Amino acid sequence: MTQHDRLLIIDFGSQVTQLIARRLRELNVYCEIHPYQNVTLDFVRDLAPKAVIFSGGPDSVTREGSPRAPDGIFELGVPILGICYGQQVMMEQLGGKVEGGKISGGGGTAEFGRAFVTPTNDDLAILDGWFADADGREQVWMSHGDHVSKLAPGFEVYGTSPNAPFAITADVDRNFYAVQFHPEVHHTPNGKTIYKNFVELAGFKGDWTMGAYRDEAIKQIRDQVGDKKVICGLSGGVDSSVAAVLIHEAIGNQLTCVFVDHGLLRKDEATEVVSMFRDNYNIPLIHADESDLFLGELEGVSDPETKRKIIGKLFIDVFQKHADTIEGAEFLAQGTLYPDVIESVSFSGGPSVTIKSHHNVGGLPEKMGLKLVEPLRELFKDEVRALGRELGLPASFIGRHPFPGPGLAIRCPGEITREKLDILREADAVYIDQIRKHGLYDEIWQAFVAILPVRTVGVMGDGRTYDFACALRAVNSVDGMTADYYPFSHEFLGETATRIINEVKGINRVTYDITSKPPGTIEWE
Ligand code: XMP
Repeated sequence: MTQHDRLLIIDFGSQVTQLIARRLRELNVYCEIHPYQNVTLDFVRDLAPKAVIFSGGPDSVTREGSPRAPDGIFELGVPILGICYGQQVMMEQLGGKVEGGKISGGGGTAEFGRAFVTPTNDDLAILDGWFADADGREQVWMSHGDHVSKLAPGFEVYGTSPNAPFAITADVDRNFYAVQFHPEVHHTPNGKTIYKNFVELAGFKGDWTMGAYRDEAIKQIRDQVGDKKVICGLSGGVDSSVAAVLIHEAIGNQLTCVFVDHGLLRKDEATEVVSMFRDNYNIPLIHADESDLFLGELEGVSDPETKRKIIGKLFIDVFQKHADTIEGAEFLAQGTLYPDVIESVSFSGGPSVTIKSHHNVGGLPEKMGLKLVEPLRELFKDEVRALGRELGLPASFIGRHPFPGPGLAIRCPGEITREKLDILREADAVYIDQIRKHGLYDEIWQAFVAILPVRTVGVMGDGRTYDFACALRAVNSVDGMTADYYPFSHEFLGETATRIINEVKGINRVTYDITSKPPGTIEWE
């Protein structure tokens, strides 16, 4: 367990609990999110957090059997901050009252969206530097059906909003703070100030840095693995690369990486990955060139989901085949990130429709009887990049755009042929070169070319051409869930189209995809 000061976030099921963790990590505070069902008083005592935050949640404290914090947590002398449902739980458990709103069948008024909080008394440590607006109020994001109707003994009100008379409350003597709004979201523009003040008053030193993380992770990997062997599947992406370099630093040649080359990679990608890990880092690496197998099985297949399923299944088979050659391996390393870990315990949200079945190596460890090493489990994506920099991975590598597991297969709508893949690789290389030359690479979240399953007529010199059309794609996004197309200048697009048509044999028409997500998706399949 980390030696840093710890903050415990009790998750009552809010959609935005992860954002609380983000805000705290930005303040160099180590925190862990745990679902309320797992948080017993003994658990809290063992974790020994320096402060606790109660997240929001979808339930109503007025409902019998709704989530609670463990009895006794309020006696530990630890500062607590309650957010939304967290505030209501606190009031209810400490002797106040919560009134049901529209949603839970009560008569109260619900409040969703932007609201303004006005101070009634800003002499409160967590509000330091907060009500800084000229008109003395602060924009906040509200999302609640119920509201507190009577404060628990010892609490006072410090701010109100039109529909939340107890928008900011506190029992200063016991260091309990509770707000009805969500300071962690973007729409509470100065919300981070509240977290900053809270962790300061709780005495956090802000010493959760990547350097410290690296040292601790290395020690943990050594403790877990001992003198056994570890296999790591390398995709060329940031997560698996950082995991591999970190594990290699911890256990050296006890680690072997397996790089499955499915023949659907970008131009020169396989060589770059192999030379970086094998030559620069000296990491034992199996380069499994299985392109014939993958492209053979994909022959004649044009349905996107069938493509994904074939690639996913073959990937697992091939990985296993090569991993089996590493004698005595007991562990499989994975670049699992914190958001994946939290999602797997979260109870929020209903069943969602599968738009695309993203392929991964799920199920592989059980099948192979391997134990998992997941050194990035506590990190968010941008923290993985910071760790990569800390480990000396080249900036150009860390800043690479995301690349999907099925690779170029899903950028080649319709049937995949070697000819189309070769054309696509060349066009993509020119496009990315253009983007880099114009200094735009780091401004764009993801950019690529898709080759379209259609030939069009053109004229070059005095001759007629009948070649493929392609689509350029570039989007900005935070997490890939939604995306906006990138607004290139017409000059850039014109110059790029000319270069692709002149330099890439097989393409005579270039289009730019200006669909956002939704309604489109980022990839073409
Ligand atoms: P979509 O196309 O779903 O893409 O809007 C969102 C992000 O996910 C990537 N993507 C995939 N990644 N396996 C992956 O590992 C897949 O099957 C897959 N499909 C899409 C896509 O590149 C984008 O970053």
